[in-house]
Amino acid sequence: MNGYYHITTYGCQMNVHESEKIAGILSDLGYKATEKIEDADIAVFNTCCIRENAENHAFGNIGMLKKLKTAKKNMIIAVGGCFTQQMGKAENLHEKFPYVDIIFGTHNLGKLKDYILKKQTVKKAVIEILEDDGKVYEEIKPLRTSYPNAWINITYGCNNFCTYCIVPYVRGRERSRRSADIINEAKELVALGYKEITLLGQNVNSYSNGTDDLSFPQLLEAIAGIEGKFRLRFMTSHPKDFSEELVKVISRNPKICKSVHLPVQSGSDVILKAMNRRYSSADYLNKVSMLKRYIPECTITTDLIVGFPGETDEDFIATLNLVKEVGFSSAFSFVYSKRDGTVAARMENQVDPEVSKRRIMELIATVNALTRSQSEKYVGTTVEILCEDYDNKKNMYLGRDEFGRMAYFRSEKDVIGEFVNVKINSASGISLTGEII
Ligand code: 5AD
Ligand code: SF4
Repeated sequence: MNGYYHITTYGCQMNVHESEKIAGILSDLGYKATEKIEDADIAVFNTCCIRENAENHAFGNIGMLKKLKTAKKNMIIAVGGCFTQQMGKAENLHEKFPYVDIIFGTHNLGKLKDYILKKQTVKKAVIEILEDDGKVYEEIKPLRTSYPNAWINITYGCNNFCTYCIVPYVRGRERSRRSADIINEAKELVALGYKEITLLGQNVNSYSNGTDDLSFPQLLEAIAGIEGKFRLRFMTSHPKDFSEELVKVISRNPKICKSVHLPVQSGSDVILKAMNRRYSSADYLNKVSMLKRYIPECTITTDLIVGFPGETDEDFIATLNLVKEVGFSSAFSFVYSKRDGTVAARMENQVDPEVSKRRIMELIATVNALTRSQSEKYVGTTVEILCEDYDNKKNMYLGRDEFGRMAYFRSEKDVIGEFVNVKINSASGISLTGEII
């Protein structure tokens, strides 16, 4: 054994899964996981740069490690992910935190093992940021940490260049894994007893783009056809590519959850255009109607941004109206964060932070009211919950229904990884409480 590892992850699901791959690499090297960073012989930070606060958070935590590193000279500190991949940021990081031993980007996860081995023999920092080579690497096996849920990458990178977004610059051009590899991974996971599979990509609907025999709807249907009881989800869908063919596949396959994450970002056509989203609010609402026509019970979640450059009160009201019209079951609401190198960062009419603050509060209150009213409708009903975890503070098990609604309940025996029927007795905002029946 090589000692203990600790990984700190920032950002999205994509990064959470990438950290599972980092864990796979570290355990191959003989390291064991520890929850406590003070006990770690190697501490890895998997960073995110999608918004400034994610960056600041990572900076704060890396800064705090200086004392520990001074006391534990042989500890290895490695920083990777989206932040370090940005132009010039690896050098900045090295200057600011000279005690960081390894700095790598999003395109060289496959070389992390070599960097660690090298660092064990050299004194100076090992820094390498590679450019996107357009390839898909299959050799890194993740060490999964989220049973009964499992994530599978289906695409990497993004070609959309929404004007606010840094992702296409740090994750490279969109490329798809081979459908045979994806289907095999899903089969293995089901055979191992995983009960929920989520397919991951920045824009899953553009999967393959002619590079594979299967389109996204065909891939989804092939995975839904695997024997055994499990749930199938996918994220994220770009509304411009969200097709009727896909909706039909969701509607006819009971394993595919009737809940779709469809980020709208704004309800204003002027802002959507400035964001380069390539749909109008009417296009979005048409897709929602089409979805509801095939699957009336389907719930929709979304991502929203307030304070995009040039956003007026009128634009913001259009967002509020769209949110109410669609009736999202929940939403992630963000204040626009200026990202260097993106088109929107060069726009002149940046919104006053005080105005953005006021708007985000109003938006969150609107979204929360929708979520709460939908949760209240659950009271008295019985829902099938996939038990995911045990909450030590509440002394209750917890899990979600197919629509992603969280429920807490008590159980005599450990039911993590099982589907249980729970009668809902009360609702509080986003979560429900009930009893197994
Ligand atoms: N500022 C605020 N939110 C952003 N997102 C992406 N880039 C930015 C940014 N610069 C949000 C979008 C996206 C989600 C993953 O993050 O809403 O859908
Ligand atoms: Fe960013 Fe747009 Fe790509 Fe999503 S689709 S990752 S928001 S550029």
